[in-house]
Amino acid sequence: MIELTPVLDDKGDKPLYIQLANYIKQEILSGRIKREEKLPSKRNLSQYLGLSLNTIQSAYDQLSAEGYVDSRPRKGLFVAAIEEDINSNRYYPQISEAKFEQLKANVKIDFNSGKVDLEHFPFPIWRKLTMQSLYADQSEVFNNGDPQGELLLREQIATQLFASRGVRCNPDQIIIGAGTQVLMCLLALIIGKDKFYALENPGFHRTRTVLQDLGVETIAIPLDENGIYVKGLKNSGAHVVYVTPSHQFPFGMVMPISRRMELLKWAEDYKGYIIEDDYDGEYRYKGQPIPSLQGLDTRGNVVYLGTFSKSLIPSIRISYMVLPATLLTKYQEHFTIYKQTVSRLHQNTLYHFMKDGHWQSHLNKMRTLYRKKHAILMSSIKKDFGDKVNVIGENSGLHIVLELKNNMQENELINSALKVGVKVYPLSMYYHNSQECMGSKVILGFGGLSESQIEKGIRLLKQAWEL
Ligand SMILES: Cc1ncc(COP(=O)(O)O)c(C=O)c1O
Repeated sequence: MIELTPVLDDKGDKPLYIQLANYIKQEILSGRIKREEKLPSKRNLSQYLGLSLNTIQSAYDQLSAEGYVDSRPRKGLFVAAIEEDINSNRYYPQISEAKFEQLKANVKIDFNSGKVDLEHFPFPIWRKLTMQSLYADQSEVFNNGDPQGELLLREQIATQLFASRGVRCNPDQIIIGAGTQVLMCLLALIIGKDKFYALENPGFHRTRTVLQDLGVETIAIPLDENGIYVKGLKNSGAHVVYVTPSHQFPFGMVMPISRRMELLKWAEDYKGYIIEDDYDGEYRYKGQPIPSLQGLDTRGNVVYLGTFSKSLIPSIRISYMVLPATLLTKYQEHFTIYKQTVSRLHQNTLYHFMKDGHWQSHLNKMRTLYRKKHAILMSSIKKDFGDKVNVIGENSGLHIVLELKNNMQENELINSALKVGVKVYPLSMYYHNSQECMGSKVILGFGGLSESQIEKGIRLLKQAWEL
């Protein structure tokens, strides 16, 4: 039997079954309990730990519901394949390690959704403003700054956010941080680790990882064509929900206003918080602009998360969150001890970049550019794949989901693409339980590719997938 030595507290805040499920989760995530390993039978574990069968059953049910384990009829419970690294060849099981490395080195066209167009980034201006920030603030720039981030930059962000996303906030509500995960970590501390967090399923794996690494309870909520399924949310008992309404990650649907209002009503009725991650809401190709949830919220139930990773460059590592009044008070009382994570130099450079109008003109330029790339992608797909595929989530953002009607498995799609020098990405890793991912689907990001690369990539995929 695998070694399980949980330290459980029967007078603790959380029921014993949750404590046990959490312990097993941590053991799985840390790799101490391996994928495919069989968990002890309920009876054996109950005897071994001196806990009731009911407690063990509930802990196992919880692990099943969250996708950590799969039940195999008459065989028992086995650890599921979770949280894969998309750069590891575990995603390409028919290929040996050596062959995988060779294929990776041969990738010519990479449909990576994390990449943005670098060719049009105004490096000379950025360089000039970096120098200017350094000289202008010589005496100050080497000292620690405000834990929330530079006030001048927060002022710029507040103004731009209102203009472009309808977010209503003052600069005091903004906290800058080096990426969404850093901010999610801080946010979970502010809201509370004892709360239940509902997540879109499929959804952004990095948020899920942060919460699970913190030992926070997460609950997977399914999606329908309008985004998160609010009825499921109501039944889940969650206190907090994380959503990507402008461009659901990864499926790409834009949450319509009716669903937004339903979600806000949930927050009001259940005294819950909504975390709105608006990571690439700047880029929209069809439909009317829909106000951010934060802009529609009149009760102070929404936390707005934004980033410069898509609108500028990902390596700058500047993201931010806008806290409602209740959470701001908690932050100011308990969490200003956490120092600011973004260099003051980069913050000041970005401040000048925004103040001098470069950000707005960069954004306008990128909107036109991505619109063109998106149009090329869609017309290439239509020309080369015809009705052999469905495109999901094509109304906004920098990636689409491609669904093939040829019954090829995700692995086969990825492997055969690699063989012609094209990299496409799995969808299954975004599910709480990767086995829930049905059908032949892959993700294609287009932000970092040129128009001719997009056309060529689609042509090569036609050949690879024999469409
Ligand atoms: C859903 C989602 N949120 C946020 C981000 C941005 O993360 P960060 O601000 O850490 O660069 C991304 C980037 O790919 C994303 O897909």
